[in-house]
Amino acid sequence: MASKKNFALHKLHTLLGLFPIGLFLLFHLTANFQATKGPEAFNEAVGLIEKAPFLLFLEFAFIYLPLLFHAIYGLYLAFQAKPNNGNYSFFRNQMYLWQRITGVFTLIFIAWHVWQTRIVKALGTAEINYDLMHDIFTNPVMIAFYAVGVLSAVFHLCNGVWSFLVHWGITVGPRSQRMATYFTMILFVALSYVGLRAVFAFV
Ligand code: HEM
Repeated sequence: MASKKNFALHKLHTLLGLFPIGLFLLFHLTANFQATKGPEAFNEAVGLIEKAPFLLFLEFAFIYLPLLFHAIYGLYLAFQAKPNNGNYSFFRNQMYLWQRITGVFTLIFIAWHVWQTRIVKALGTAEINYDLMHDIFTNPVMIAFYAVGVLSAVFHLCNGVWSFLVHWGITVGPRSQRMATYFTMILFVALSYVGLRAVFAFV
């Protein structure tokens, strides 16, 4: 009974990692990328998001609650990690370890980022716009922290797509798993480019 419950919780954890959290990350990186077209383009994108009906409800239902569950269960999984050198290659065991390291780092990064943007806005002490991010990035430590945070989240998502495909029985044999490795590597390079260009557009 307990292992059935654990199985269901684990399935829910992997599903939420992709839908909606992974999808949200894609959306968020794309919105931030508007900053590469200038402050007005970014502020316009933020304005459109802020006009969405039931925004707070949507944020809780599709971002905060799924992320909270994925993060708490993810911490539990991360600290009982069991590398499997017998069945998987050295490379896959390294990826397994980095999935856990980036999960923990991404959690620290997200907590800080939400505080500096969404909570500060809720407290009424700042508006979310281009100038807010520009001011944050006058500190070079923050630029480095955001750059590593974005890379960490992107790695976690891309490597997570690889393990999602295995968990859900979509890539079963070695050939399909190798193709998935190439696909997720290309995805990692493309999303890292989008994310880092966005960070440096605020500097
Ligand atoms: C940007 C936010 C995040 C995204 C987009 C995300 C996405 C994903 C995806 C797609 C997976 C793969 C699911 C699977 O293996 O089937 C995954 C796995 C995992 N995530 Fe996250 N995640 C995020 C945040 C976090 C956080 C904050 C933690 C906290 C430590 C975490 C810990 C984990 C762990 C430990 C796994 C591996 C689970 C396993 O091997 O079964 N994730 N994540």
